[in-house]
Amino acid sequence: MKKTILMALSAALVLSMSACADKSQESSAQSTKSATSNTIVTEEELGLRKENLYTEKGVAPVKKVDVTAAPGTAKRFERSYENAPPLIPHSVDGLLPITRNNNACLGCHMPEVASSVGATPIPPTHFMDFRTQKKLDHLAQQRFNCSQCHVPQANVKPLVKNTFQPDYRNPNEKKRSNLIDTLNEGVK
Ligand code: HEC
Ligand code: HEC
Repeated sequence: MKKTILMALSAALVLSMSACADKSQESSAQSTKSATSNTIVTEEELGLRKENLYTEKGVAPVKKVDVTAAPGTAKRFERSYENAPPLIPHSVDGLLPITRNNNACLGCHMPEVASSVGATPIPPTHFMDFRTQKKLDHLAQQRFNCSQCHVPQANVKPLVKNTFQPDYRNPNEKKRSNLIDTLNEGVK
């Protein structure tokens, strides 16, 4: 008889302790929530699209209008920041993808031809082996796939506004790179 009461009592104790623990967990969760934001973002709502993340209903690819200005008629963009790879301002119709045997970009951007077509010449950093820090007499293999770093543009509404403001030490750097001269700045 005594034994049963004891058991019941200890069971009640355990139960009330776990209830306490639940409460304290809840309140700590609540306090972190109020410290950040009161709105709960569910898993379905995660992401930037306005549709449920788990269904493809009502989802369509972004309607984009590719830049159509042919090379030679496009207006260059300012660099995104000092020595950023310039964005491709002209249409890349028929120029991409770059393949092992066909890289149309070279036809206009190699330094020996660039000026005759009004294109920016490929800079000296692309003719350098960065492992040995030596100049090469040909384009570095690592630079062959231009569109890996230089990206074509399309007119689309950005999902998140970019508020980044670049600072240039010299206004010329909005239009040209000088990386070959500043490469070891702060290192040597
Ligand atoms: C038919 C010649 C031609 C071809 C081919 C060509 N470009 Fe151009 N590119 C130009 C010209 C000319 C400009 C200057 C802007 C203009 O007049 O359209 C330019 C501008 C650029 C710029 C901007 C440079 C700056 O100073 O802001 C980049 C980057 C670029 N091209 C990359 C490429 C890549 C990558 C390819 C290959 C996918 C390519 N171009 C193919 C002629 C060409
Ligand atoms: C690994 C990334 C990378 C690849 C690949 C690459 N570039 Fe660049 N490119 C850059 C960066 C970064 C800059 C700016 C700094 C500099 O001059 O090196 C640049 C600058 C340029 C410029 C501007 C030069 C100036 O004087 O302002 C041109 C034109 C250019 N690249 C063309 C090309 C072409 C054409 C290819 C393909 C044959 C190519 N790049 C491949 C990263 C790359």
